[in-house]
Amino acid sequence: MATTEITISPEEVKASSGTERVPDPCIVVIFGASGDLTKKKLLPALYHLEQGGLLPEKFAVVGVARRPLTDEFAKDMREGILSGGGVEDGDSKLDEFIAKVNYHAMNFDDADGYTKLKALLETLDKKYGTNGGRLFYLATAPGYFAEIVHQLGAHGMAKPEKGTVRVIIEKPFGHDLQSARELNDDVNQVLSEDQIFRIDHYLGKETVQNILVFRFANGIFEPIWNRNFIDHVQITAAENIGIEGRGPFYEKAGALRDVVQNHVMELLSFVAMEPPVSFGAAPIRTEKIKVWKAIQSIPLEDTARGQYSAGTIEGKPVIGYRQEDRVDPASNTETFAALRLEIENWRWAGVPFYLRAGKRLAKRATEITIQFKQPPLLLFKDTNGSGKCDEIQPNIISMRIQPNDGISLRFAAKVPGPTMQSCPVNMDFNYATAFGVSSANGYERLLLDAMLGDATLFAHRDGVEATWALMTPILEGWAATPPKDFPNYVAGSWGPKTSDALLARDGRKWRQQ
Ligand SMILES: NC(=O)c1ccc[n+]([C@@H]2O[C@H](COP(=O)([O-])OP(=O)(O)OC[C@H]3O[C@@H](n4cnc5c(N)ncnc54)[C@H](OP(=O)(O)O)[C@@H]3O)[C@@H](O)[C@H]2O)c1
Repeated sequence: MATTEITISPEEVKASSGTERVPDPCIVVIFGASGDLTKKKLLPALYHLEQGGLLPEKFAVVGVARRPLTDEFAKDMREGILSGGGVEDGDSKLDEFIAKVNYHAMNFDDADGYTKLKALLETLDKKYGTNGGRLFYLATAPGYFAEIVHQLGAHGMAKPEKGTVRVIIEKPFGHDLQSARELNDDVNQVLSEDQIFRIDHYLGKETVQNILVFRFANGIFEPIWNRNFIDHVQITAAENIGIEGRGPFYEKAGALRDVVQNHVMELLSFVAMEPPVSFGAAPIRTEKIKVWKAIQSIPLEDTARGQYSAGTIEGKPVIGYRQEDRVDPASNTETFAALRLEIENWRWAGVPFYLRAGKRLAKRATEITIQFKQPPLLLFKDTNGSGKCDEIQPNIISMRIQPNDGISLRFAAKVPGPTMQSCPVNMDFNYATAFGVSSANGYERLLLDAMLGDATLFAHRDGVEATWALMTPILEGWAATPPKDFPNYVAGSWGPKTSDALLARDGRKWRQQ
């Protein structure tokens, strides 16, 4: 059954989305504004909010970076917005929006630059009527996060007399437990926790938020969402791209830090959390942290790591990780990580969760698979035939985060004909078909929420530290025992054999994406 009968027009989606909240006047100040993130994601997201009438009328943007750009900056941002699609060049609304985009050149560690920035913001307050409201966005390398926050504090921009000041901090937030704690201590010296918005753009994705709606707005799933009915859970975050020229960054990061500590652990918490008392920042963040804290340490034998060698992706040859630009030819950085863990609480005791993330895998697919236990008696086990119907398969709910966002349920159906043969079939819900819109880029929702002061979809200090507390011993264990078999998977495959072995040991296997 495809759920396309429930089609909802984009107008209805907008009217029912509950996002008709418009933030107070403010200036969005982006540090690191000449970088990729600002042009490709942040400005297009801000403009989409403007198009949807979701930005305050009294609004401006200031980009801050080192190079001396002036008019080129606005021109570059216009290009970024146009290449994001959904707008024509010459659109008067785009012209009005671009007229509010300003640029300030400074070095992040130059005190005088902050004095001048403050003066510029005060001038813009008068021009646009933004009344001291600020959303600072730190889209910089992580080494600058603490410095910028301190300078904002030292120059009276963190707690001004008028308006509300909030600060979005990009990932990665720390590179292990100690550095995350230090960074938290540093920024908390200047900002209160309710001013800090640690962003993970995955949480802005509709499909991630839909996990909560699916679980808690439907009566039929929650009663079976526990150890009595669920055999195990798999979370896959697979990319087929490589490191895209970001060698120096990736050499220090690796798959566990880059994707598992944040995106994958966030997905895990949404799948496993208890129902919050309400849909508010504090109840949701509390329940998520309880999940991470219920995970006992993850022994090294429950982990697998890998690094890709040269191979083929979509029919084209690609080089191995060690041959990538600015990567050590003997690098031990993992481009693949898999974990098996258990959540030791009443709901999940005894249910394994298998997580994997990697680059240059067979395909791009982020998906959560909930595999249910087999029925207690397999009535039809002797009557199945050949091909994909040859064995009774367990029920599966799979939540596709990207691409082809949606949810499907696999169940058995009788094959037409005189014998009692069953075959697995899928009921499928697809975002684009059901709602007539594809799910938005996460940054729109998150920028709007931060302007509104809604921290529900942002990481809390305790949550960041809880996930690092789980990852750090693995990172230390891996560092202490350098891999002997790297590279150990071919680009275009599904990762190293050790990842399959992690499930095979329990009599299970990764679901084919
Ligand atoms: N790119 C993405 O899609 C993406 C996705 C998720 C997270 N992130 C995170 O977002 C952050 C930014 O990413 P990005 O790709 O935009 O980075 P990027 O392309 O490397 O840009 C870095 C920016 O910082 C500025 N900068 C560096 N040192 C400076 C200094 N001393 N003083 C003033 N400006 C300085 C650069 O300005 P100049 O060019 O003028 O030197 C540039 O604007 C990173 O933390 C990254 O991990 C990025």
